[in-house]
Amino acid sequence: MELGLDIQWMMGNASNNPEMVEISGVDAAVGTFITTEPLPQDLEYPEAEQFVADFEEAYDEPPASVWWLLAAEAFNVIAHAIEATGSTETDVLAEYLHTEFADYPGLSGPILGFDEKGDRLGTIHVLYQIDAEGNIALNPEQPGAGGEEEMMEHDGEALVAERCTVCHTIDRIEAAEKDEAGWTETVDLMIGNGAELNDAERAAVIDYLANR
Ligand code: HEC
Repeated sequence: MELGLDIQWMMGNASNNPEMVEISGVDAAVGTFITTEPLPQDLEYPEAEQFVADFEEAYDEPPASVWWLLAAEAFNVIAHAIEATGSTETDVLAEYLHTEFADYPGLSGPILGFDEKGDRLGTIHVLYQIDAEGNIALNPEQPGAGGEEEMMEHDGEALVAERCTVCHTIDRIEAAEKDEAGWTETVDLMIGNGAELNDAERAAVIDYLANR
């Protein structure tokens, strides 16, 4: 059935799958934007390159959707948590992943950690667009790539969630309203207290807090 909709489609990561194009037909799908975790072949991390090489050896083709990667990623993270805790108790593993787990060299790039809900800290989403052949192709222009400020904001948010919650909860930060000068003073005070931030991270945190 044809609905006659002639609009720009935008989709989430569930549609990052060649079957979606098979079902809709290339004509209907072309031009669709998809935001999703990146395919490993679009990443420059050694872990991603190794994953693609191993995958091609096993299946004679590169991974066509992000889901094989994320399944492998989840498996590795849980295996790592089992090793780190010496336990297979789900409560122990969940507690470890929510609190201690940090800076892990993931297949989809470094994983900063997970928040209390289990969401990954920081965003790794990128923009794809379905091209004239029906391929889900990495968009040459990534939102934020040209605007450094936007990227810094993302980093800042993840950094605050990770580094500023070591001694007190995030509530303390959410309750405070300050301008850039005020946050600069507070962040420097916190660094004096022992918060771990290098110069670039300090700038990203201040930028995020002053403009959130
Ligand atoms: C090493 C421990 C530690 C870390 C890490 C830390 N803080 Fe603090 N923070 C404190 C202590 C202690 C206090 C209360 C005493 C004070 O005001 O210095 C505090 C108080 C605060 C307050 C309330 C007081 C005010 O000035 O408004 C804010 C806001 C705050 N911290 C923000 C942050 C931010 C942002 C970060 C990350 C850059 C951070 N903290 C990281 C120890 C820490």
